[in-house]
Amino acid sequence: MIKEEWKAKGYIDEPVDPALDLKKEIRRLCEEKDAIILAHYYTIGDIQDIADFVGDSLALARKAAETKAKVMVMCGVHFMAETCKLLSPDKMVLTPDLNAGCSLADSCKAEDLKKYKEEHPGYQVISYVNTTAAVKALTDCVVTSGNAKKVIDAFPKDAKLIFGPDYNLGNYINSVTGRKMLLWNGGCHVHEKFSVDEIVRLKKEHPHAVVMAHLECKAPVLAMADVKGSTATMLKYAQQSDAREFIVATEAGILHEMQRTCPDKTFIPVPPEVSEGGLGCSCNECEYMKMNTLQKIYNTLKYEWPQIEIDPAIARDAVKPIEKMLRLS
Ligand code: 13P
Ligand code: SF4
Repeated sequence: MIKEEWKAKGYIDEPVDPALDLKKEIRRLCEEKDAIILAHYYTIGDIQDIADFVGDSLALARKAAETKAKVMVMCGVHFMAETCKLLSPDKMVLTPDLNAGCSLADSCKAEDLKKYKEEHPGYQVISYVNTTAAVKALTDCVVTSGNAKKVIDAFPKDAKLIFGPDYNLGNYINSVTGRKMLLWNGGCHVHEKFSVDEIVRLKKEHPHAVVMAHLECKAPVLAMADVKGSTATMLKYAQQSDAREFIVATEAGILHEMQRTCPDKTFIPVPPEVSEGGLGCSCNECEYMKMNTLQKIYNTLKYEWPQIEIDPAIARDAVKPIEKMLRLS
């Protein structure tokens, strides 16, 4: 029985016995219910450690499309859980906290995009995966930071394109392809905060370090980066490179997998522009990703709630541009 207070909160806050080995119990419930745990690199290390699969948004979407499990627990943010449900509509998709949103997805409302499309007849819409299902339903093709260039390259050079909602990613793609896509003015509050001055300072301290930045960062940060890409691109580079030190401009959760797979290398997170509260916060975290906890995962599996449901009319149109992306990338 799902309590009204849980529904109001958007997650189950039932206390768990502190004597319980939560990680073991979560794995037991996964076994019992034929469930898998999918986790994004920005979730806390404890979640990445118990997940069946950890990846960037592209890899998570691919996994969701191919899994044979009956239940998926998507530990990331809401649009990622929606993507799982769109690609596997017959499966139960659970998400530990319905409040885990995304500032970037919030920066593009479906009604605003609809109006913008009407004002720009003849344009096709390319949407970043960090969007709601309702926005995807108005989209011709979805991209992630891991495949944006490849997917957009598949469109004719003279195609009239609207790209949204991440301005920085669209601006980067325009700069490397010579396209003139119309750009939505959205952004991620985490990636927009990285400080150029801090990168300069860290680079002085670690002159041989490789600078890596996520494509959601602003142009001046990207201009300083030796490696620009998705979380998975940066991780792979770090694993394959001979370099010993890396300055990393993306959400600090990725450092867990970097450090786990490259224990003898040093990863330095780039701090945000203004240290929160002046207390010297040394890394940039996505508070939405950090809403995922072991306790919530345990409860979500136990009660099979919150589940992702999508209006069938929206789902029918929203899945098409995701499938198109998977075909093109
Ligand atoms: P990735 O595509 O690199 O997983 O990024 C998703 C995201 O939300 C970045 O902020
Ligand atoms: Fe969204 Fe930014 Fe958090 Fe990624 S880091 S989920 S883009 S708010």
